[in-house]
Amino acid sequence: MLERYGHGGDLLTAAELFGHSPDLFLDYSSNMNPMGPPTCVQRIFSERWMEVVRYPDPATRVLRKKIAAYYRIPEESILVGNGAAELIDLVVRITQPATVAVTAPSFVEYSDNALRVGASLHYIPLKAEHSFDVQAEDLSHALYKADLTMLGHPNNPTGRLIPDVLMDMLQTAKGTVMLDEAFIDFLENEEQVSMIQRAPSMKKLIVIRSMTKFFAIPGIRLGFVVAHPDIILQMRNLQVHWSVNHFSQLIGAAALDDAQYISDTKKRVSTERQWFYEQLSSIGLDVIQSAVNYLLVRLPKQVPFHVPEMQEKLGQMKILIRDASRFPGLDERYFRLAVRLREDNETVARALKHIIQP
Ligand SMILES: Cc1ncc(COP(=O)(O)O)c(C=O)c1O
Repeated sequence: MLERYGHGGDLLTAAELFGHSPDLFLDYSSNMNPMGPPTCVQRIFSERWMEVVRYPDPATRVLRKKIAAYYRIPEESILVGNGAAELIDLVVRITQPATVAVTAPSFVEYSDNALRVGASLHYIPLKAEHSFDVQAEDLSHALYKADLTMLGHPNNPTGRLIPDVLMDMLQTAKGTVMLDEAFIDFLENEEQVSMIQRAPSMKKLIVIRSMTKFFAIPGIRLGFVVAHPDIILQMRNLQVHWSVNHFSQLIGAAALDDAQYISDTKKRVSTERQWFYEQLSSIGLDVIQSAVNYLLVRLPKQVPFHVPEMQEKLGQMKILIRDASRFPGLDERYFRLAVRLREDNETVARALKHIIQP
């Protein structure tokens, strides 16, 4: 099983399972910017490596200032973390919820963190017949019941945003609402869709952002949270000191200055997603329309095998996909594919065609 540790992108497990070197795989099981990291990453590591002898700034001052200016939000409403994953854990620890609502399917860290503090789970069903969009009645019920509601905006693995008309409903929540916007920076209209600017003045809304996906730096970990300053203070009091290393802070601040890279990525990913969507649909796969850089796909009924078997066949061909059957609410016909650059997307579309139409 490729998802031995619960996530995609595990090249060492892939190497053990399929007997190839980790560098040889086309990784469609995790969703990073296919353009690779911005040039500042190499520059900072090569020119400033000696700064490894310093402790990082425990208050992440330069990066926080940069994020505040970039998104036009107050600095005291931002806390930087060692990836969004650290911040999701902190949200659960400050709220100590008895009941947590999550959508099924959704990113597994929400429910894992909730279970770790002994919370019980309330599942909000997402259905194929609604294109996996959350429904008003189900959301309103969850917001009434849960002490903490954790929603992907867009959701992983579906790539769907919370519909615009439901956003105001979040203010009626009994408890806290955490919106995970880990992938929202891939959207061309990010600014209109994100709730990041509303969070500082709303006591119940916490917005999580990751910088590892868009800037393709999962190896150094970087994310931030935006919320009311009182919530930020509570989270900061629980955070481990120096949790954000010096190089992550330098790279995060420099990356936000690379306007060309940012706009090229948004355009490129949007074009490639549409192209890949059409190719996959044309070979008979059921593909869910997504807002971002990954696609949830379903094997049609007439294909006489399930995703675990297909994952194995593709792994032998050095292509890694995410088996999505482990997400609550999905069955063994679902898998998730990253959107990468054209040549790789062509290779993967060809391999899938070969497997499902031998
Ligand atoms: C929806 C979602 N949120 C958060 C994370 C964690 O991101 P980070 O690498 O910033 O910890 C992931 C990672 O896969 C994710 O898919």
